[in-house]
Amino acid sequence: MLYRYILKPILFCFDAESAHSFTTRSLGLVLKIPVISFLFKSIYRFEDERLSKKIWNLEFSNPVGLAAGFDKDGKYYRNMSSLGFGFIEIGTVTPLAQQGNPKKRLFRLPKDKALINRMGFNNEGVDKMIERLQRRKKSSLIIGGNIGKNKLTPNEDAIRDYEISFRKLYNHVDYFVINVSSPNTPGLRELQDKEPLTKLIRHLLDIRDKQEYWKPVLLKIAPDLTIEQLEDIIDIIKTEKLDGIIATNTTISRENLESSSEELENIGAGGLSGTPLKNRSCEIVRFIRSQLADIVIIGVGGIATPEDALKMLQSGADLIQVYTGLVYQGPGFIKKIKKSLLESI
Ligand code: FNR
Repeated sequence: MLYRYILKPILFCFDAESAHSFTTRSLGLVLKIPVISFLFKSIYRFEDERLSKKIWNLEFSNPVGLAAGFDKDGKYYRNMSSLGFGFIEIGTVTPLAQQGNPKKRLFRLPKDKALINRMGFNNEGVDKMIERLQRRKKSSLIIGGNIGKNKLTPNEDAIRDYEISFRKLYNHVDYFVINVSSPNTPGLRELQDKEPLTKLIRHLLDIRDKQEYWKPVLLKIAPDLTIEQLEDIIDIIKTEKLDGIIATNTTISRENLESSSEELENIGAGGLSGTPLKNRSCEIVRFIRSQLADIVIIGVGGIATPEDALKMLQSGADLIQVYTGLVYQGPGFIKKIKKSLLESI
């Protein structure tokens, strides 16, 4: 109620990226006040043993996670966990800090309950992220590290970028995500092709196998892959024995939108997220599940209601993530999903 009728109308008066920065920073400030932190947790937390899941060697208190891109630098994961997420994915982080694309680069499409972003992996670099994670207090919060390449690194050298962040983050996160699916870094999605992808995955898994502790490694894919590309990826996952897949990232498609073509033209390039992505991401999850019975699938894309969350799980996802739904529904969204999932058990 508070979000829907008061906070959201105010936040939506501002540019989407400024509203995001303002919200995350203010949340950090107000949660420093013990009474507010206590109140916040009592309002938004909702735990139940029946929602918990053990996957790999990790105990997820519930299957709802925060998708990558919300906390690109590992600044807000502790505050965001107060909303009751079962896990939080930070990044995409690159070896070197980079500014990303010029602003304005994040846009709302309220008629479609969607966003278009062309952030371009703006982040402070992996070293800064590690400094923050080193201050991480011992807790059961599960954190995923989503890694990518710097814009100026040519695709031929991309493996080195992924290796740097992978090695540096290895002891600081609970699982890894290889992001080769963002539409906002030129040429990145070409790394989803069979040959470069096989090399990249094999290289990171070789490094993983030499570490003292085992950590799961997942691949995040685009929703715009052709069926042939998807089949290639499934083959690679089988042969390289990857631990999981995240489906999907944002789409470059602009089909079936309520927003006017003029509005879309004014916004320009970028990845579309939110409700219009829902059917495609569920379809991809269903297809992957039909081909790979045992792999862990994290379903993400267009989850805007508790029913969408359930549909994603029924399509074959083990865990789900949200981003755009949170922007439109507000902080009570996670509790709402969890309550509804519990009713469906
Ligand atoms: C994203 N997403 C994203 N994904 C990723 O792997 N690395 C990233 O850095 C980002 N950055 C990012 C920024 C913004 C502003 C948005 C809206 C999204 C994609 C995100 O994790 C998710 O896959 C999609 O947004 C689809 O889920 P939703 O938003 O429809 O729930």
